[in-house]
Formats: sequence, structure tokens, C-alpha cells
Amino acid sequence: MKVLKGNPVKEKIISDVKNYIDAGKDKVGILLATDDKSAAVYARAQVKMFSKYGIDVDLYSPTKDVKQDEILSRIKKWNSDENLHGIMLLSPMYRQLNRNEIVESLESDKDIEGIKAINLGKLMLNENGLFPPTAVASVEILKYYGIETEGKNCVIAGRSVIVGKSLAILLLRYDKMGNATVTVCHSKTANIKDYLRRADIVFAAIGRAGYFKASDFKEGSVYVDIGINVVEKNGKRIIVGDVEPDKVEHLYAYTPVPGGVGTVTNAILLRNYVESKRRKDFNC
Ligand SMILES: NC(=O)c1ccc[n+]([C@@H]2O[C@H](COP(=O)([O-])OP(=O)(O)OC[C@H]3O[C@@H](n4cnc5c(N)ncnc54)[C@H](OP(=O)(O)O)[C@@H]3O)[C@@H](O)[C@H]2O)c1
Repeated sequence: MKVLKGNPVKEKIISDVKNYIDAGKDKVGILLATDDKSAAVYARAQVKMFSKYGIDVDLYSPTKDVKQDEILSRIKKWNSDENLHGIMLLSPMYRQLNRNEIVESLESDKDIEGIKAINLGKLMLNENGLFPPTAVASVEILKYYGIETEGKNCVIAGRSVIVGKSLAILLLRYDKMGNATVTVCHSKTANIKDYLRRADIVFAAIGRAGYFKASDFKEGSVYVDIGINVVEKNGKRIIVGDVEPDKVEHLYAYTPVPGGVGTVTNAILLRNYVESKRRKDFNC
């Protein structure tokens, strides 16, 4: 049984892209228009990650009374900044804001989270584009460890646009890291465990700590745990996945939490940044 650690995958991706970064010149814009504590923690982690690779972060965290127009004018400024190649929008946003309008105001090639309709459309059409990092990371981690999805019975738990649905489309692509038979389950799926028990590869992305048990998965299967849940254990706050790794010896492989998909997701975000920058340089 193999533990598919994210770190070597991350290192490989970063070594492939880091030479394309102009440290001290390149910039990224992050919008944190919320008082949600988890979003603030995530924003700080992103600032640290981009700064580590020499990319300056313009973190815009307006007060609660911010107007839609103020946000749109900041996005406009970021869109026209020649050295700023990526924009991230943290969720949730203050209630008065129209998130869809803000998302669609991004220049498509700076949408490093792959959340604009045009980038999601390119994903669907199998064209080059910027795709949601978590979905991409879930496939990249398997690819790195030589686990192909072609011909496999893949079951995804979770149908959000940026994780479950995007992942389903990636797994249907016409190559060795696609060509899977894909089932997407959600909160209204009846007898979800029956689907998971038959899967060759389970992708868990529901946001519920230890909701599934590794012992329920079939002999020789693989699970990719995408969930990130903060729980209290012995008075400490720790991060756990959606799968309880209660018994793993019968599996072929699994990704740990923390240290699995989440680690790779950051590297894909950086790769999307570099991709966005190169598109501008090559005018494509
Ligand atoms: N590793 C990373 O880099 C990364 C990045 C982003 C998110 N995440 C994590 O991934 C998880 C999912 O994130 P998300 O943004 O996709 O969350 P989300 O938007 O809240 O979607 C959760 C999905 O899970 C489904 N679901 C909830 N409870 C369920 C249950 N008991 N049985 C079956 N399906 C259930 C929901 O079904 P309905 O549609 O029917 O409501 C929904 O489709 C979270 O833990 C999040 O922290 C990780």
C-alpha cells in the first residue's frame, strides 16, 4: 500500500515553472472581501506562498461597507497591470456584492483559479485554458505516481463547480489520465457507500471530517482525499480529510490529509500563474 504524498509532486511542478517567474517584478492580486476567518487564513497562506517565489501580492481586503463599484474598479486596475498575471477571489464575499459580476469582470487570462465561464467552457471543450487547481491537482498526484485512470471506475463524492464537476470533466478527457468511467455523487445520492465500495478510484470532496471510512473501500482500490476540515483533537486544532484512514492495508494507495492534494493545489495555482504570464508573452 502506497501513501501518495503531495510534496514530491509539488517540488516537480515548481521546478518546472519557477524559472519563468521574474522575482520582484511579477505580481498577483488577491481579493479578500469577507470577514470569514477561514478565508483570511487561506489568504495569508496564499500571500506566503506567492511571496516565497518572489511574486508580490496586492492583497485587497476592503471593509464590510465596500461597494460593488469599488471592487470592480480594483479588478479593472489589476486587469490593466502589465506585471500582474493572476487574480484570486476568496469566498465567501460580503453579502451585498454580486460575485458573478466580479468573477466575469476578470481578464480571462488572469483567472488563475479557472472560475470564469470561458475557462470552465474550455475545460468542457477540451481546449487549453486555466482550470480549477484542486481538480487538476487531484489528477496530477495520480499521474506523478503512475496511477492511470483509463478504463477505471472513478467515483467522485461532491459536485461543486471547482472540485467535483471540474474533476469529472478532466477524468473524461481522451488520454491515459482521462478515459475513466465517472460517477458523481452528492448529498442526495441514495446509498452512496454502494457506489464507493465498487470504485477503483474514489475522490472524496464533501467537506465532512472522516465521513467515509477507508475500510469501506474495495481491495486494491485508491482513494484521493480532497477534503480539508479543521477539527479539535485533544484541545488542538488539526486538519483532517473526508476519509477516516481507519484501515488502509487492503488498498493500493491513498493520499494523506494534510500533505496530499492540498499541497499539490498550491503548486498548480503557481503553474496557472506562469501559464497566464506566458500566454501574454506569446500573445496567445
Ligand atoms: N485540497 C484542496 O486544495 C482543496 C481545495 C478546495 C476545497 N477543498 C476541500 O474540499 C472539500 C469540498 O470543497 P467544495 O468547495 O467542493 O465544497 P462545497 O462547495 O461545499 O461542495 C460540497 C459537495 O459535497 C456534497 N456533499 C455534502 N455532504 C455530503 C454527503 N453527506 N454525502 C455526499 N455528498 C455530500 C455536496 O452535495 P450537494 O451539491 O447536494 O449539496 C456538494 O456537492 C472541502 O473539504 C474543502 O475544504 C480542498
